[in-house]
Amino acid sequence: MRIAIVGSGYVGLVTGACFADMGHEVTLVDNDPKKLAALEAGECPIHEKFLPELLQRHQGNKLRYSGDLAGAARVSDAVFIAVGTPPTDQGDADLSYVESVAREISGSIDGFKLIVEKSTVPVYTSEWVRKIILRNGVRAEAFGVASNPEFLREGTAVTDFLYPDRIVVGVDDERSADLMRRIYAPLANGEYYKHADAIPHALGESAAPPPLLVTSTKSAELIKHACNAFLAMKISFINAVASVCESVGADVGEVRRGIGLDSRIGPRFLNPGVGYGGSCFPKDLMAFRSVAREYGYEFGLLDEVIRINEDQRQRFLRKVRSALWTLRGKRLAVLGLAFKGGTDDIRESPAILIIEQLLKEGCRVVAFDPAAMDRAKETLSSSVEYAPDSYSAAQGADALLILTEWEEFAQLDLSRLAEALRYPIVIDGRNLYDPATMAAHGFTYYSVGRSPVTAEEADAPVVQAGGRRRAEKHA
Ligand code: UGA
Repeated sequence: MRIAIVGSGYVGLVTGACFADMGHEVTLVDNDPKKLAALEAGECPIHEKFLPELLQRHQGNKLRYSGDLAGAARVSDAVFIAVGTPPTDQGDADLSYVESVAREISGSIDGFKLIVEKSTVPVYTSEWVRKIILRNGVRAEAFGVASNPEFLREGTAVTDFLYPDRIVVGVDDERSADLMRRIYAPLANGEYYKHADAIPHALGESAAPPPLLVTSTKSAELIKHACNAFLAMKISFINAVASVCESVGADVGEVRRGIGLDSRIGPRFLNPGVGYGGSCFPKDLMAFRSVAREYGYEFGLLDEVIRINEDQRQRFLRKVRSALWTLRGKRLAVLGLAFKGGTDDIRESPAILIIEQLLKEGCRVVAFDPAAMDRAKETLSSSVEYAPDSYSAAQGADALLILTEWEEFAQLDLSRLAEALRYPIVIDGRNLYDPATMAAHGFTYYSVGRSPVTAEEADAPVVQAGGRRRAEKHA
């Protein structure tokens, strides 16, 4: 099928590249000539596994770039809108880009055309898109509107797209449903997975074709917001449990395993830490709360999820203060700037917010991140120093802070690390290490939802008892 994708940001690029790999003819449209020139030159603007390969594989053949929205829409069977929906000052999603795309493509609708919302949008957006196109003189029979939310995580977006748990297609008429089924047929009927050069499953598993769930457009719009809100709620829930664990001397790792093994709950998205960040959860929770309020429901549960998330950063800062006493002039090594491992994205990153606060309190920060340092340099104060690796960051530092769950931060040579640091203090906001191992290597180690340990406690089965004693002290 011929598909136009409007917006070559994160979602648009991944969607376009994956549709091309599924055999469709894709035109990726953007109004930023610089972005288009970079893509034409073979550059991949985001750090995303498999994306450079896919762009290279299909560029100039199944995948073309264009600045001409009307022209691309005219020759396509379906137009996917993947433009930004940034938050307004009130926390609603700003839908002006979506509206202007809907207006602009109205003139290109001659035969039947399907307009698909791919950006995360509040319920009723599809109705507005329909209204705008009708207002611009297009007959109702000449187009359909669909909502096709994405469930892509940054860092694994390509495999999330090609091996989804489910495909959600919101439509209000059978013709649109049929077109959407045809677009996703290579995944839903399993054909894609038989290709020798198909992108492999992230866990090396063989793929069962995903179910394709057809709903109304409103339900599909709500599924997306409810899904992100639920995942964020899981994270805030375990962070709240972690705080209780700290007060009573329990181990959140054990508690998490115990509750995650209940198949009704499941183990995923139960990692405690410094709170969730990124371009999705914070923005989508606010937008969901705002749209619920607009339609008469006060979604107080979401207020609490957001509050716990913000508090999690403050709790971490309190740990830094309690480990180091005064902060002015202290040199802190910080591992991690991205909002999570596997990406260079620093939007709403807890790491950045924590560093900003530490700088305000007079700390000197030496940071390392495998991918996000260039982005961080654009945002953070120029007083932050950047190191080429974890050990150089740690050199001579008063303590080491772990703020992002990069795999490589969980595999450090602990003896080398202890040698590099001025004082062997590690404050781990992502629970990457076992406290007893850290104590055995001579560290004073603070983590989330587990009692802090110090080197003296290393060989004692008393780690627990010692921890409890400390927890009482801090309470
Ligand atoms: C999230 C959702 O997971 C995707 O399904 C969704 O499509 C996407 O938002 C979106 O709406 O576009 P993403 O923001 O890429 O994806 O990142 P996640 O992997 O969900 O992580 C979000 C944040 O939660 C990160 O800061 C991460 O460190 C944190 N997190 C995640 C935890 O603190 N604990 C966990 O157990 C999991």
